[in-house]
Amino acid sequence: MSRLTPSKEQFDAIEEEGLHRDVEEGGFMPGRCYFPAFVAGIFVLFSFFALIMWGASLPQKPKITIKTIRFHEFVVQAGADNSGVATKMVTVNSTLRLTFRNTGTFFGVHVGPSLLELSYSQLILATGNMGKFYQSRKSQRLVTVALKGSNIPVYGGGADLTSANRALGRPVPLTLTIMVNARAYVLRKLVSPKFHKWIVCSVVMDPKKMSQALSLKDNCTSPP
Ligand SMILES: *[C@@H]1O[C@H](CO)[C@@H](O)[C@H](O)[C@H]1NC(C)=O
Ligand SMILES: *[C@@H]1O[C@H](CO)[C@@H](O)[C@H](O)[C@H]1NC(C)=O
Repeated sequence: MSRLTPSKEQFDAIEEEGLHRDVEEGGFMPGRCYFPAFVAGIFVLFSFFALIMWGASLPQKPKITIKTIRFHEFVVQAGADNSGVATKMVTVNSTLRLTFRNTGTFFGVHVGPSLLELSYSQLILATGNMGKFYQSRKSQRLVTVALKGSNIPVYGGGADLTSANRALGRPVPLTLTIMVNARAYVLRKLVSPKFHKWIVCSVVMDPKKMSQALSLKDNCTSPP
């Protein structure tokens, strides 16, 4: 071994000496920087973790399946609006059944305000609300919503509307629009992505099928 190359022992000694000096002088960073650096490190790690959780939760959207609609009442009668203008008025009483499924494998979902509307042409004849509820992970519930409207004036738009109460009443084509807002609580409120679900169904109110549960299995679409 050449005398010019230091032996391994000598190297170790030099390194140890260097280390000791670093520790005595407070290392590469002044001592007071360790704590903020530690906090920043934890923060970065946590943010990264939260981002992964958020990304993983996004594809696990709640799933809404519209089951049936039942018309209890669909009455068209002559009347007058608040300002005395003569018009046909519509009273609707119906119930809708749907399932709400939380597909999330690691988070619960809070279902917030929803809006359900039954309209004829552009006229809203009945409205309903699903109510607020909490759905735990990987579970579903059957929801029944009442869609009602009382003495809704239809003006010129209701010319061909006939009452279901009359034996010869014709079927009435209606549009059901559903808007549901939900929020997933992935990491409490820190990571809580929102989901908006919009569903449109074409419904036919058939006077010959009053009070029957009519399947809407193939009548709904969900625009993106
Ligand atoms: C609507 O129909 C349901 C079921 O028949 C009935 O219980 C409810 O009282 C009706 N509501 C109105 C406002 O007529
Ligand atoms: C569903 O759509 C079909 C085709 O448009 C229609 O004939 C049927 O009456 C609809 N069902 C209900 C319950 O509205």
